[in-house]
This record gives sequence, C-alpha cells and structure tokens, in this order.
Amino acid sequence: MKLCMIGTGYVGLVSGVCFSDLGNTVYCVDNDINKINSLNKGLVPIYEPGLEEILKKNYKQKRLIFTTDLNKAVSNSDLIFICVGTPTKKNSNSADLKYVFNVAHKLKKIINKYKIVITKSTVPVTTGDKIEQILKNLKNKKLIDIVSNPEFLREGEAIRDFIYPDRVIIGTDSKKANKILKSLYMPIIKKTSRYINTSRRGAELIKYASNSFLATKISFINEIANLCEQTDVDVKDVSLGMGLDQRIGDRFLRAGPSYGGSCFPKDTRALIDIGQKFKTNMSIVKSVVNSNSSRQLLLIEKVKSILNHKLRNKKIAFLGVTFKPNTDDMREASSIPMINYFNKKNCKITYYDPSGEKDEFRNLKNVKYSNNSSKACHNADLIILHTEWNDFKLLNFRKLVKKNNFKVFDMRNIYSPSKMRKLNIKYFGIGR
Ligand code: UDX
Repeated sequence: MKLCMIGTGYVGLVSGVCFSDLGNTVYCVDNDINKINSLNKGLVPIYEPGLEEILKKNYKQKRLIFTTDLNKAVSNSDLIFICVGTPTKKNSNSADLKYVFNVAHKLKKIINKYKIVITKSTVPVTTGDKIEQILKNLKNKKLIDIVSNPEFLREGEAIRDFIYPDRVIIGTDSKKANKILKSLYMPIIKKTSRYINTSRRGAELIKYASNSFLATKISFINEIANLCEQTDVDVKDVSLGMGLDQRIGDRFLRAGPSYGGSCFPKDTRALIDIGQKFKTNMSIVKSVVNSNSSRQLLLIEKVKSILNHKLRNKKIAFLGVTFKPNTDDMREASSIPMINYFNKKNCKITYYDPSGEKDEFRNLKNVKYSNNSSKACHNADLIILHTEWNDFKLLNFRKLVKKNNFKVFDMRNIYSPSKMRKLNIKYFGIGR
C-alpha cells in the first residue's frame, strides 16, 4: 500500500519506518527542511533503539521517502496519517489542535480521489468530527473517510510496541476504510494483538482513557509508597502482592518520582479539559494530576531531610535525568524541578545520563555534566539514582565514591536495602 505520514515527530517517524518495513511504500512529510535533509542522510533525529537500522534498510530499498512536498506525497498515497503534535495550549489544559486543523485545510486543496485520512495524533474526542467539517466537500463526494487510529508506542520500546501491539484500534463506521486498514495491519495482528473496530469517537477516547488510567496506576502506587514509608513496609512487596491479582495486573506499579514524558502529563490535563467541555467532572484524573505535581515537592523534601536540611555546597550526583531510560527525552522529567531547586540552594550538582548532556541544565551555575558514572559520583555526598538505565543497575558504590560517608537515594528501588546495609552504605529508597 502507499502511505503518507504527515509529521515526522516520534509517532510519524516510528510508525512510518515500521510500516515501510512491512513492505509498504511510505512518504514521510515534514515542513522542517533540516529534519528532512538529515533523514535523507540516514540521520535519525530522535533516540530510539533499533529505529536507525530499520530506517536505513527501507530507505535503501526505496520504500521510505522523506520529503517536504505534501502535495506530491498525498497525491501518491492511498492512506494519509496525520501525525502532527497536539501540545498543551499555553496557560490552559487543552490540547492545541492548530497543527491538526492546518493539515486538514491543506488536504482539502490536494485530495481529488478516494483516500483514507487517519489521525494518529492524540486528539480529544470529537476532533474527527471537526476534521470532517473542514473536509465536508470531499466527504460528500465520497472522496474520503476520516478514521481515528491512536498509537500506544512507548519511547525506548517503540519498535517492539509497533510489531507486537496489545491491540490495534480503528475508529470508523466505514466498512471500506475498516477493510483496508485491517489489511494494512494484518501482518502484525496475525501475531498476538487484537484488532478492534469501534466508533471514531470511541477510538479517540480510548487513547486518553488508557494514558490517564496508566498515570492513575502510577500515582496510586506512589501514594501507597508514601504510606509504606510511614509504616515500615516495602512497596515492592505491595506491588507484587497487588499485581498478582489478574484484575489489577503487575505492570505500571513501580513506585518512583513523579511520572513524566510527552504523553501522561499532557494527556491527563487534556482529559480534564475535555471533561469540562462536555460538562463531566473528571475528579479522579484531577486528583492524579495534583498528586503527581505534589510528588515533585515531596521528593525535594525527602532529599532535604536525607541531607539533614544542610544544603549549601552539598555535592549531589544525579545518575540519569531523562523521564525514563532508553530515551533522550527530557519532557516533564522530574529531574528538572529537582535540579533547579538544588541549584538555587547552592548545592554542587554533577549528573551523568547515557543519552548525553542536557540543554535544560547547561546554564545553571552549580550544575555540571560528567560523561560517566564515576566522574559524576566520585566526590558526592549524595547519589540520586533518578532514571533506571541498565548502566546503573550493577554499580559498586564503594568504588565509585572516594569518601566513606556518602548516601544513596535510589528513586527507582533498584538496589536491595539489606545488601546496602551490609555494605554499610546509607541507603534510601522509595516506599521502603
Ligand atoms: C506512554 C504510554 O505508555 C504509551 O502507551 C503512550 O502511547 C505514550 O505514553 P511513554 O511516555 O513513552 O509512553 O512512557 P511510559 O513507559 O509509559 O512511562 C511514562 C512515565 O511513567 C515515566 O516517567 C516512567 O518513569 C513512569 N512510570 C512508568 C513509573 O513511574 N512507574 C511505572 O510503573 C511505569
């Protein structure tokens, strides 16, 4: 099949590359000429394990075309995926749909034979209806079907999530569009996943409901972790005990810092806003958003108490600063408010992240990047293990730090408190 991905951000690029690997011809369009030029040289603008290899292979076989020419890409394709960003609007909770509607207005001028227009971007329920309004001439002439097909790719695991999805959701009441999309996804739905055809609005809502539910699960276990700290219980035992109940499930029950990334914070806020627009109080999601933002302050307080409230000139080493491992993404990473706070308090901060130095910290006077764990930690009073990269899972802290009385705050509960006690290391975890 011939596909056009509009927008070569995370969603568009990963999906486009993976669709080409299934044998389709894929036009990836972006209006950023520098990005397209780099992609044409085989340079991948995002950090995603495995993506570059698949991209190069399909580019060589001419199944992947990177272009700024929307007209040509759309005219040559049967399926048009809208994959542009839907960031949070300034000073509001709502998703900014200007990029999506902008694309719809352009499509109106280009399409002159039957095509399926599919939103992969995360869009509030009823956005498809609004796109249909913009394209109503084409719809009346039966030249388009507008479908919602949300993506559930996790950064760092996106290729695997694409090939082995838990489910493929297609929101449309058009039998024709559904048949075509089913055959597009057939090579992967044959494996393990379920293919679900639902209404377009249903598909749009499934995406927000899924992300908000996962964010709720994380916030729930984080609050249980707070209670564990007061009652001398290990939250890992609680997660295990809860997770074995199949109605609950064991995933997304790892306590840690506040959740971050490009999706959960944005989508939970947007769901509250959508609720407001449709006169529905999303009280649980509101609590989750509040719980997650107060968690940032709570962990800062915990670090302060670990340092006995004497912050000035204390040497803090951060291991990992990204919002999760296997990505270079810093969006809404909980390290940002923490490092900014301790920088202001004149702590001396060093940090190492396997994905490299971060612009967010470049101009902070008390913050320095080190290019490995030993350099970051050798002088530390406190090591904060912030992101669970594999590089940090087998550290010998005694060798890393050149002093005796350092402390370790393991925000991802990687290490065993009893083993740390045996090594005579002052160890703090989350909810234990
Ligand atoms: C998420 C969804 O998982 C994906 O389906 C959706 O399409 C996009 O958003 P992603 O943002 O890549 O993916 O990250 P994810 O792995 O879900 O983690 C999000 C945040 O939750 C991270 O900050 C992570 O550290 C945190 N998290 C996750 C926890 O604190 N505990 C957990 O048990 C799981």
